[in-house]
Amino acid sequence: MHEPPSSGTLPYYEDVTPSTGALPPRAWWAVSDARRVNLGGEWRFRLSPRADAEDESFARPGYDASHWDLLPVPSHWPLQGHGKPAYTNVRYPFPVDPPRVPTENPTGDHLRTFDLPDDWPGGAAVLRFDGVDSCARVWLNGHELGTFMGSRLPVEYEVGGLLRPRGNVLAVRVHQWSAGSYLEDQDMWWLPGIFRDVTLIERPEGAVTDFFVTCGYDHATGLGTLRVDCEPAGTVTVPELGLDIPTGEPVIVPVEPWSAEEPRLYDAELATEGERIPLRIGFRTVAVEDGVLKVNGRRIQFRGVNRHEFDPDHGRVVDPETMRQDLLLMKRHNINAVRTSHYPPHPAFLDLCDELGLWVVDECDLETHGFQMVGWRGNPVDDERWTPALLDRAARMVERDKNHPSVIMWSLGNECGTGRGLSAMATWIRERDPVRPIHYEGDRSCADTDVYSRMYADHAESELIGRREEPALEDAELDKRRRAMPYVLCEYAHAMGNGPGGLSEYQRIFETYERCQGGFVWEWIDHGLRRRTPDGAEYFAYGGDFGEELHDGNFVCDGLVFPDRTPSPGLIEYKKVVEPVRIEGDAERGTVTVTNRYDTSGLSGLAFRWVYEVEGEHSDSGRLAVPDLGPGQSAEVELPRMPRIVRAGEAFWTVRAVLAEDTAWAPSGHEVAWTQFAAAQAPRGQRVHRGRPHSPRRVEGGLIVLGPGTFDAASGALRCLGASGVRGPALDVWRAPVDNDRGMARAPEDQLDRRWRQAGLHRMRHRVDGVTLAGDVLTVATRVAPAASDIGLRAVYSWRATGDRLRLDVEVTPEGEWPVPLPRLGVRMGVNPGVSEVRWYGGGPGEAYPDTRAAARIGRWTATVDELRTPYVRPQENGARADVRWAELRRENGAGLRLEGEPAFWFTARPWTTEALDAAEHTHELTASPVLWLHLDHALHGIGSASCGPGVLPEYHLTPAPAAFSFTFTALPEDASR
Ligand code: GAL
Repeated sequence: MHEPPSSGTLPYYEDVTPSTGALPPRAWWAVSDARRVNLGGEWRFRLSPRADAEDESFARPGYDASHWDLLPVPSHWPLQGHGKPAYTNVRYPFPVDPPRVPTENPTGDHLRTFDLPDDWPGGAAVLRFDGVDSCARVWLNGHELGTFMGSRLPVEYEVGGLLRPRGNVLAVRVHQWSAGSYLEDQDMWWLPGIFRDVTLIERPEGAVTDFFVTCGYDHATGLGTLRVDCEPAGTVTVPELGLDIPTGEPVIVPVEPWSAEEPRLYDAELATEGERIPLRIGFRTVAVEDGVLKVNGRRIQFRGVNRHEFDPDHGRVVDPETMRQDLLLMKRHNINAVRTSHYPPHPAFLDLCDELGLWVVDECDLETHGFQMVGWRGNPVDDERWTPALLDRAARMVERDKNHPSVIMWSLGNECGTGRGLSAMATWIRERDPVRPIHYEGDRSCADTDVYSRMYADHAESELIGRREEPALEDAELDKRRRAMPYVLCEYAHAMGNGPGGLSEYQRIFETYERCQGGFVWEWIDHGLRRRTPDGAEYFAYGGDFGEELHDGNFVCDGLVFPDRTPSPGLIEYKKVVEPVRIEGDAERGTVTVTNRYDTSGLSGLAFRWVYEVEGEHSDSGRLAVPDLGPGQSAEVELPRMPRIVRAGEAFWTVRAVLAEDTAWAPSGHEVAWTQFAAAQAPRGQRVHRGRPHSPRRVEGGLIVLGPGTFDAASGALRCLGASGVRGPALDVWRAPVDNDRGMARAPEDQLDRRWRQAGLHRMRHRVDGVTLAGDVLTVATRVAPAASDIGLRAVYSWRATGDRLRLDVEVTPEGEWPVPLPRLGVRMGVNPGVSEVRWYGGGPGEAYPDTRAAARIGRWTATVDELRTPYVRPQENGARADVRWAELRRENGAGLRLEGEPAFWFTARPWTTEALDAAEHTHELTASPVLWLHLDHALHGIGSASCGPGVLPEYHLTPAPAAFSFTFTALPEDASR
């Protein structure tokens, strides 16, 4: 056995040379008539603490590894009980001393033996690794094949001459840390291992070495151009187009174009002497023209997400079914684009994007963000010694993914600062694929790119850029160039915890300025790792839960779906905000204006339906005929003149656009877009409340009785409503700060959570200034204020009762100089638990906050208390329902409580206090208390996106100001019919 190859004195895993012994990179294809053997399955595994702790004897045939553990491949060993995962965002979890890595370098030896299928023909064959994190050395039957880095990129070795029919021994040594780790500082878990497929592929004589499909579409003529370059030469047949052409020669034929909305693919076959490969061809032309990114001659708009590969049990091992589920979920939520942050995905994912229709920005496996911590000194992207490694990464991405119609831009990487290496990558890519535009965000000069890409630019700046009025770059030439580029937010609307707020306002900008071509929400999925407490409660772990020395906490949980892929309210909001059909009602005119906001599609795939509801109850419904509008077109359509049944009460029209037929991604009837608006001149319902007014009176035991209410005479607090105990409603301003309040990426003085706590809003005390009984009214005057401060809120509660209804009027007057907005303004009360059902009339069905409420519609909704809560991975304020007119909380027997608000209120119910919610770090730390806590809020502070982006927009600030609001409480009797 020879020494590991190295240039100079460093071992191969600290050598910047990307690989040794590998074949040149080339296209990936899922199947062909060449045989292949999937080498996944159970391997033998041994973990060592250092790279050199064990010698290489394990790679020799005959080595007895029967005492080693078994490990599934693909997998990450820290998720299989060997070592631990670790999370950092920007910081390298090792000293920054490139290309050196720590001596403590977990190293996994992987071993498997395999037989060839009986019909294996012999001859050439390649061994392919689709992803190994972060550096591997490979032997087959005792022969060293080479070493490689580039975790999310493929590598292949020629192995035909080494294969035997039986008992082949494949040995792979994987090091967690390598020179490559410096290029892979993405914000995610550090997870070593062979985490993608390992495949042996037969290469018959005359088999395809590589091929490049170039397809264009001329929208003016409707003609497609097809040219397939192939090594060796062969033929391409496209039966549907009647084509049977030699490779290397272009043909021009009338075709239907491919787009994310109409992903028209033509089945084809590439045949050389030795191999037949099924192809799926999509015709489309991508171009930046007149400062706008266009596909097939049309401006497109990204309604995108950043997608990491993640599974809560398996890390970045994502199976094809999960990939498909991700895409179906995206399509069903009106998402049309994916940035493969921050590395090329599993290659099969791109086949699915071609098939289902997504615009893809394919990003290279490159991030050196941790150099920012050292002033970018030694940044590999600006150090020529690393340029070959960067070019290797660019080539392995482009060659692998070049044949996908869905890939419409190449991205050089993420957060690498600036440097010559990036320019070299761009130059190489343009040479190899002159057609696709190039993306990179980290260089404001945009010298290497075709689009002006930014992350987290706020609304105001985006608007300025939209008008092409951004501040000039120093270099006039570069400025001119950049000002003529399309603007894309490659990351925006940080979906960490509750939020993101402010989506609608971004969307308005994207729809106003031609230059603003949308963006990619950060990010698709929370990377929480599923864990169980000793008593079996499931929760999701994040940074710090594995004893990491350095970590960035729950910053790794910032997705639109929870780790188990349950949609979060943020995804529901995004779906509504980016809906590709805008429906705007005009109640006075009795019409809706429908605007087609698709990039390429007409509306023929949609059916329109209307519903007329009175007090949230169905009154009438029907279909609406909408003309088949082209992209960008609008039409005003009349609603039926008079709904058949008209009852008294508040009435709303809801108009919905649903799929007219089944599609590849959702069944017919799936809702794509909707609007809701109040009916004009709806006859207002006048509820008549029978019963006489009561007067409050003092009774024995230090109590006051007023109708159904019993109060503590000293404090004026409500103690009982009917027969049920309550913990009186009292003014409340605190919320368990959401991740966006904590503003992790912001300066401490901008972190609202800190400012709130400094002001003492989490420790407000209630002073009773007077309890007075006068006529029909019980008045309780209070002042609510924190210690050590002269700010406060005067709150006067006026109670009245009529029949079985108890009414509370609250008047609030702030005092002093308030340095902060209020988290909330309302009352909190505790009621008996055992509530099995909550019904309400108001906004729903899901959570909403002032700047995340686009998806809430007025209706009658039912939920359990548990269903009202959103289980953010790190517990925080959640679960409010907007615009609630009334709510009823009932126990199994029907008894309970009815609440009515005037005006409508924000309703929240949870089985723990805000303080408990604030204190919890994981969902399993919350245990239901014997009291159900209700928040009836007059107003809430917005959510914003300050966990990594702009804060709450001024219009959603809850500035302390005088306020008045009312609630009516009624005890609900047992319902004998239940
Ligand atoms: C961006 C970065 C992402 C992620 C995000 C915050 O700067 O590109 O990878 O770290 O911030 O969640």
